[in-house]
Amino acid sequence: MVLGRYHHVFFSGLLSVVQGACTRNTTTTNASLPVINLGYECHQAISLNETGGYYNFSNIRYGEPPTGNLRFKAPVEPAIRDKCVVTNGSIGRVCPQSSGNWTIIAREFAQSYLTGLPFKYDLAISTLPDSPDAISGDTRTTEDCLFLDVIAPRSAFAGKASSLPVLVWVYGGGYSSGEKTGKGKFNPAGLLATTGSDSGFIFVAINYRLGAFGWLGNDEVGADGTLNAGLYDQRLALRWVQKYIHLFGGDRDRVTIMGASAGAGSIMHHITSYGGSGEKPAFNQAVLFSPAFLPAPTPDIPTTSFNDLMNMLNVSSLDELRDLPSDTIIAANALQIYSYAPYGSNMYGPSVDNSFAPALPGQLLANGSFHQNISIMVSHNTLEGLTFTKPMIKTTEDYLDMLRQAMPTISNSALSFINNTLYPAVFNGTYGYTNQFQRALATIQDSTIICNTRYLASAMSGRAYGVKFAVPPGIHGEETSYVFQNGKTSDVNQDVADRLQQYIASFVMNSVPSDVNGLYIPLYGSRSQLISMAASGSTIVKDDTANARCAWWQRGLYA
Ligand SMILES: *[C@@H]1O[C@H](CO)[C@@H](O)[C@H](O)[C@H]1NC(C)=O
Ligand SMILES: *[C@@H]1O[C@H](CO)[C@@H](O)[C@H](O)[C@H]1NC(C)=O
Ligand SMILES: *[C@@H]1O[C@H](CO)[C@@H](O)[C@H](O)[C@H]1NC(C)=O
Ligand SMILES: *[C@@H]1O[C@H](CO)[C@@H](O)[C@H](O)[C@H]1NC(C)=O
Ligand SMILES: *[C@@H]1O[C@H](CO)[C@@H](O)[C@H](O)[C@H]1NC(C)=O
Ligand SMILES: *[C@@H]1O[C@H](CO)[C@@H](O)[C@H](O)[C@H]1NC(C)=O
Ligand SMILES: *[C@@H]1O[C@H](CO)[C@@H](O)[C@H](O)[C@H]1NC(C)=O
Ligand SMILES: *[C@@H]1O[C@H](CO)[C@@H](O)[C@H](O)[C@H]1NC(C)=O
Ligand SMILES: *[C@@H]1O[C@H](CO)[C@@H](O)[C@H](O)[C@H]1NC(C)=O
Ligand SMILES: *[C@@H]1O[C@H](CO)[C@@H](O)[C@H](O)[C@H]1NC(C)=O
Repeated sequence: MVLGRYHHVFFSGLLSVVQGACTRNTTTTNASLPVINLGYECHQAISLNETGGYYNFSNIRYGEPPTGNLRFKAPVEPAIRDKCVVTNGSIGRVCPQSSGNWTIIAREFAQSYLTGLPFKYDLAISTLPDSPDAISGDTRTTEDCLFLDVIAPRSAFAGKASSLPVLVWVYGGGYSSGEKTGKGKFNPAGLLATTGSDSGFIFVAINYRLGAFGWLGNDEVGADGTLNAGLYDQRLALRWVQKYIHLFGGDRDRVTIMGASAGAGSIMHHITSYGGSGEKPAFNQAVLFSPAFLPAPTPDIPTTSFNDLMNMLNVSSLDELRDLPSDTIIAANALQIYSYAPYGSNMYGPSVDNSFAPALPGQLLANGSFHQNISIMVSHNTLEGLTFTKPMIKTTEDYLDMLRQAMPTISNSALSFINNTLYPAVFNGTYGYTNQFQRALATIQDSTIICNTRYLASAMSGRAYGVKFAVPPGIHGEETSYVFQNGKTSDVNQDVADRLQQYIASFVMNSVPSDVNGLYIPLYGSRSQLISMAASGSTIVKDDTANARCAWWQRGLYA
């Protein structure tokens, strides 16, 4: 039964562009929740949070299903759908995913390490489940996952506010796992409430393809597909924001992108996209927490994963991979990563592709080949490497093996330099470690996470605000529960979480990270200063990543 017809602005004349009518069927839609006409579909909010004062527009499509011929290719904009069907995104969407089985060991090991208890590596290995079902069995999993959520203040729909700034969230998860809501962990309620206003900013959270689906790479993909397809997903979602966010009360000229780990590593690739030429990324500001990726300095390295996947599936070409049923390739991707990813890796991730990523981001930042007109807040933790370092590294031979595996094309001279000069086997504390394990940990966290923050902050020093998240233990990802603190919990240091949220909200709203007491994070500047956020309070310190190690890693000489 079709009843009223109305425009997407059925609350007020606030939103000026009217693209036509949506037809609402009142038997299936809730008249008190707004419907937005996106031109290609009509999308209704699924709920209103009365206390927070915002609507939840959930699971909005931003790309066609990346299946069939579009598998392993850059995504495309949604085609026009039936405007008479109002969708409210009640069906959840999660991209197919997996994680190396070592992530299970890493969690157990971190517990032991931090509490000083002995760890039985062999036992941990022998009790691993055979298959990844336990970790990838989310019923929302589908290749048709290019969706995003918009959390928009009600005031914009009541005629009280318009042109609100926008914060876009990009999850992490090693480029092989993660989803836009983080199973509820990425609830922006607390962050939105920080603005102390019912018309603070709009929060957008995006999905992007993972594992083989987003990051499959080799010559064949380069020729008849898209290397780094996951980056193109993110870019399409950002273009969606440019095109449609005004319909939700947002200002497309005030977009901040925020990510953690792989999310922040991705943002680094957007900042350095096409070496700074070509289309400017569709954001003005970025917040990067522990930007992470395993440097793949040439497009050849991912070839191994590609070949192994084809062998697993008994196919011999990209076309055959495209012809496989969704379930088959979803299962293969899950099993491949779970059972074969070496410790610390999830097999897939961004690689140099001579196009979107013309060189490693650090190299591009070093010589000015990046998009200049972007301000950043960039942060790292103190013990990033703990959950990526194999517990069993006990000798220099183990250490060298780890390096050779992580950097398959490394030259002997680079290997010797790392081994003898940069991270020598001297364990009296002079070099920041007292055993081989800690030596490996330092090497991993510098080369894959911490130094990335230095490359960014030093290249953009006049527009960069640095943070060191120094709440013990400071393991990778620990800051995320601070960023998304929602109400009082005992899981986080409340004071630090409050201040971190204030910095983020202030940066989004006013482009300057300040807490409610007016304490600003200073610009990074030529003095390399950042704010160290500890349980005992915040202090301005010199960035300790302004060192010879990061300077060496930045040159990419291990390729
Ligand atoms: C969302 O749409 C579904 C399917 O049309 C419907 O069953 C459900 O009631 C809707 N939810 C809300 C909150 O309107
Ligand atoms: C319609 O949505 C409003 C706001 O979320 C809610 O209070 C109300 O219960 C919903 N009504 C129905 C019939 O679902
Ligand atoms: C609704 O908003 C309030 C206030 O910010 C928040 O405490 C609450 O957790 C939110 N509810 C949900 C379901 O997210
Ligand atoms: C929005 O609604 C979806 C679907 O119900 C839910 O998964 C998500 O957590 C909600 N987001 C917020 C911020 O409440
Ligand atoms: C730089 O970005 C700001 C907004 O963040 C914009 O107003 C300004 O025009 C941009 N300048 C250039 C040279 O692109
Ligand atoms: C792989 O494909 C070949 C050729 O179609 C076939 O002979 C072989 O039995 C297949 N092997 C497996 C394990 O499916
Ligand atoms: C776990 O992964 C390793 C590779 O890092 C592999 O050698 C081992 O067989 C895997 N174990 C299981 C149970 O999948
Ligand atoms: C910057 O470095 C990259 C990678 O080493 C190189 O491809 C590019 O040509 C350099 N650009 C400039 C302007 O020096
Ligand atoms: C690594 O360093 C050790 C001394 O700590 C030395 O014995 C070994 O030859 C070095 N190996 C390489 C490849 O540099
Ligand atoms: C640590 O060992 C190195 C190499 O043996 C030595 O040069 C240095 O003085 C020692 N430092 C301390 C604090 O003992």
